[in-house]
Amino acid sequence: MTNRITIAEAAQHVGETVEIAGWLYNLRKSGKIVFPIVRDGTGLMQGVALKNNLPEDVFENLKHLTQESSLLVRGKLRAEARAPGGYEMDVESVDILQKVSEADPYPITPKDHGVEFLMDHRHLWLRSQRQHAIIRVRHEIIKAVRDYFDNHGFTLVDTPIFTPAACEGTTTLFEVNYFDDEKAYLTQSGQLYNEANAMAFGKVYCFGPTFRAEKSKTRRHLTEFWMVEPEMAFADLEEIKRVAEEFVVYIVGRVLDKRREELKVLERDTTKLEAVQSPFVRMSYDDAVKNLQAHGSEIQWGSDFGGGDETILTQQFDRPMLVDRFPSEIKAFYMAPDPDRPEVALGVDVLAPEGYGEIIGGGQRIHDPELLLRRIEEHKLPKEAFDWYIDLRKYGTVPHGGFGMGIERAVAWICGLEHIRETIAFPRMLYRLRP
Ligand code: 4AD
Ligand code: MG
Repeated sequence: MTNRITIAEAAQHVGETVEIAGWLYNLRKSGKIVFPIVRDGTGLMQGVALKNNLPEDVFENLKHLTQESSLLVRGKLRAEARAPGGYEMDVESVDILQKVSEADPYPITPKDHGVEFLMDHRHLWLRSQRQHAIIRVRHEIIKAVRDYFDNHGFTLVDTPIFTPAACEGTTTLFEVNYFDDEKAYLTQSGQLYNEANAMAFGKVYCFGPTFRAEKSKTRRHLTEFWMVEPEMAFADLEEIKRVAEEFVVYIVGRVLDKRREELKVLERDTTKLEAVQSPFVRMSYDDAVKNLQAHGSEIQWGSDFGGGDETILTQQFDRPMLVDRFPSEIKAFYMAPDPDRPEVALGVDVLAPEGYGEIIGGGQRIHDPELLLRRIEEHKLPKEAFDWYIDLRKYGTVPHGGFGMGIERAVAWICGLEHIRETIAFPRMLYRLRP
């Protein structure tokens, strides 16, 4: 039996005869030599198969093998600087598990395909190098997110996905039937439960899928996305901003540290990421509106930024921005008003540079029970569904707050992608539920 390794392990097996299990990525032929490139999910390995070294039928079968056919190849490994991955295999034997039919070839070829075609074949597109790079950066970001909170005294307490009430406004709820005519909604955010957890544990985070029936078709919106949300008891807006900034610097640093190769595949300008250091640009909503007006935006005080506004703002700086104190009117019911200026909320958004815009939203929550009740009424939310949430303000209320970061927004920015659709294996969007 030949020792089976993954391509990523090749460096430790130079000079040995090993087996690699994978799929045919590409094949070059030149007379009595063929160069199969095999992929196994961990990397690419170029084989060198000489007609004279192989049984005739094995050589002929290999020579006519089709893209994405599954196979086992065995041979001796050599270091070879010019080969993809830096190693090459002198092929000694090959087992073909399945030859992809010539009549029905693998649909994704090296030629340019339109994005709709690729999205329709997302289940296959994931095999390409670029998609690998993105998904690996995503994995690193998620690990970094968990490490940051785990190393700073936060306890992971996950929150439910079926919820009886809205967290982020009633216009983007997905409704589901929940037995005996009861309605439930897919969660828009774990925040409300996170607040209960923070009152129990002090500092907590939740991390899971969240859902928004976003009717907008933009490069920033998914209907299902992953959000990490820290929540801290005894924290004010300044502390929330401090944590958000430190957290973003840490994540970008980790990707630079561990995923250089992937960033290279993506042709990411890493100097832009290296510039992501403290202190971030700090700006009030008031000043942001003035800045935008001076740059030709139509925005008036009182309205939310459009996607275009965030682009205008964030193209001016090489670091992320912390924009705070938005008008309470345009923010969620739970946002604490600024005691000195109740028309603005103690909320903050982190906007990523290079035109990316919002990656984090958060702030301080209302901790006064009467005010909270008033807001629930003003927002016409069903009070019964919030009884437990109001309890948190009756039994030992404290100033508290936190934020949420959408993983896909962070991946799009860090990878330098034009559109959010490639940041998750199977994106869900307004017009996309398949595959
Ligand atoms: O600003 P949002 O709506 O804030 C909340 O949900 C708070 N409850 C979070 C908290 O304080 N615990 O959403 C937070 C982040 C956004 O900044 C964005 O990164 C991401 O979630 N996000 C989306 N990502 C992809 N597609 C969408 N439709 C998104 N909506 C929000
Ligand atoms: Mg927001």
